[in-house]
Amino acid sequence: MNKPLTSDTTVATATLNAIEKNKHLEGSLLPILHQIQHSLGYVPKESVPSIAKALNLSRAEVHGVVSYYHTFTDQPRGETIIEVCRAESCQAVGGRAIEAAIKENLGIDYDETTEDGKFTLEAVYCLGNCACSPALRMGDDIHGRVTPKKVDRLIKKQREQD
Ligand code: FES
Repeated sequence: MNKPLTSDTTVATATLNAIEKNKHLEGSLLPILHQIQHSLGYVPKESVPSIAKALNLSRAEVHGVVSYYHTFTDQPRGETIIEVCRAESCQAVGGRAIEAAIKENLGIDYDETTEDGKFTLEAVYCLGNCACSPALRMGDDIHGRVTPKKVDRLIKKQREQD
């Protein structure tokens, strides 16, 4: 379940501020998107028409850039991002059980955010921790040799920190 979107007024203000501040720059689309992502935590679909109009681009072009770069997301993200490694080494030693445990614990699928806005689940393809597969990243920390029980402990610990 994705958490509620930001209010229309907040989105409109953040979008206009980003356009005004960056539109004079060469290649201004990326700075505008970065500023909106930084202000709101995502680039709402509602921002796209204003950006397209200001830069004389089509909505599809703006949307294409938002979709192309992993840095940008058009949905609000949680306070803590959990990235589960879906690459070969991790998948070979129980990665699917880790995915299932997280999805069951949080009640969300990939690219979704818990209703309380605490967690977003994302897939990655290698965290550079293959020697300790299966691996995940929770916030800034990479964890190796993860088990379904360890998943539950990590999520519980993260909730207690908040
Ligand atoms: S394959 Fe999972 S960390 Fe490298």
